[in-house]
Parts: sequence; structure tokens; C-alpha cells
Amino acid sequence: MNNVVNVIDTAADMVNLARYPIADLDTAEGAAFAKQCRREYLETGLCMLPDFIVPGARQILAEEASAISSEAYFCKSTHNAYLTEDNPEWSVQDVAKRQEQTYVGSVAYDRIPDDAYLRRLYLWDPLKDFIGSVLGKSEFYRFADPLGACSINVFVDGGEHGWHFDESEFTVTLMLQAPTSGGAFEYVPKIRGRANEKEIVAAVLDGNRNGVVELPFTAGTLLIFGGQQTIHRVTRVSGRRARLVPVLCYSEQPDLKNSESVRMLFWGRTGNEAGLRA
Ligand SMILES: [Fe+2]
Repeated sequence: MNNVVNVIDTAADMVNLARYPIADLDTAEGAAFAKQCRREYLETGLCMLPDFIVPGARQILAEEASAISSEAYFCKSTHNAYLTEDNPEWSVQDVAKRQEQTYVGSVAYDRIPDDAYLRRLYLWDPLKDFIGSVLGKSEFYRFADPLGACSINVFVDGGEHGWHFDESEFTVTLMLQAPTSGGAFEYVPKIRGRANEKEIVAAVLDGNRNGVVELPFTAGTLLIFGGQQTIHRVTRVSGRRARLVPVLCYSEQPDLKNSESVRMLFWGRTGNEAGLRA
């Protein structure tokens, strides 16, 4: 009898290394795999790795996230697709005048226990180095934000994220738990900067489905996504089971954090409060 194979403890136990050799990027096989991922990211605007997390770890991570989902801070906002302030000089026809709705919760990094499996995964250097290579970064660090380094997005009944381009160049997410219904991730790849960008955005906001791609929500998938070039949304969630998606943040500079105003917006506090958590 040997039960050792089923034990999940470290990040290396959680990742499907047989399919995705991310810990061996200095071998020929690992380097070829990373190169293929890089090509996929450049060509399509995203790199999607289904079954990245092995089934046993998926369940552990989902239960862990679910157990702390009540710690989420919820933010309801109205925004345009560019996440910019309104400008009175824009014409009323300007697509940037159009408003979208977002209602999403986020469990801050400092609410994720020190021994959490998600934290072990985030703090694992081979994962960081692999993501950096997919994004083509020579310098790549985990984000130093006390709240936003690695957080968990929580979409409860009525939760949604309206159409937008991200402010950050890339986003890394882990699909952990699909909601009872809704919560589809939809996008129109790589339209930023095209001559007809605004026409495409207007059509998408009007509900035109031309070019809209829906990404299946499969638990255990890692997604590296270039959200600055690709308009995207999460459709409205309904039902009792929440949509749970950890967001792993990185930076090209060490010690980079969100501004305090961004932290106030997403988590209702700055994370500088002394003595709240050991
Ligand atoms: Fe986004």
C-alpha cells in the first residue's frame, strides 16, 4: 500500500507537471513548451492551460476559497469600456460615453491564511518564472501589494463584470469554482488600436455577437490574459453557488503596489491597518 501519491502538500503537487512541465524550463522539453505558450499568447491574446491544477488539488483549492469567500469586500460600479472618467468634450455618440455595470467581491491577500494552498501556489517561483516567460518579461516579480498580490474574485448572485479593457497589460487567473449559472467569460481578441476599434466596441456594447468568443469555465484552468488589448466581460451570475476565481498579480518591478485609492476602491481599506491580523 502506498498512499503517498495522493498527498497534496506543495505547489508542485498541485500543478499538472506531467502535462505542463513549468518547473523544467531549462530542459529542451520545458523550453519548447514555454515557447509554444508564448506563441499562443502573442497570436491570440491569451494562453489558456486547462487541467493545470490536478483534480485533487482543485477540490482543496475550491473548498479553501469557498471557506473564506465571506471575507470578500464587494464593489458596485458603473464604468465605460476604457475605465476612464467622463470627459465633457466627448460627443454624446462617443462609445466612451456608454456605461457598463460591475458588481464583484474580492477577498484580499491578507485574508488568505498563511498556510493556504493558494498562497503556496502563488509563492512558488517556477509558476512566476513560467508566467514571466509567456509574457516575455526579463524582469518579473510577484506584486508587493498587501491586499492585491493574490486575491480571490467572488461573483455571487447578481455579480457581473461589464465590458472593459484592463488598465494592466496582463491578468493571470485560476478558474476554481463555476457558479450555479451565468458567469461566462467573453472577449473579442486584440481589437485595441485597430482603425475600427470604436465601431467594434460599439457593436459589442449593443449586443452584437460577431467576433465574441466565450471561454468555457473549467475548474483547474490557468489563464494568462492580455486584457489591455482585448475587450472582455463576465456575464451576470445567478444562483447560490458563487463563481470563485483567484487573481495572481505580478510586476516587472520589485516592490510595486497599488495606490491607496485603488485599495480603498477594491477592498474598502488600505491594508496598512496595524494589528488587525498577525
Ligand atoms: Fe478585466
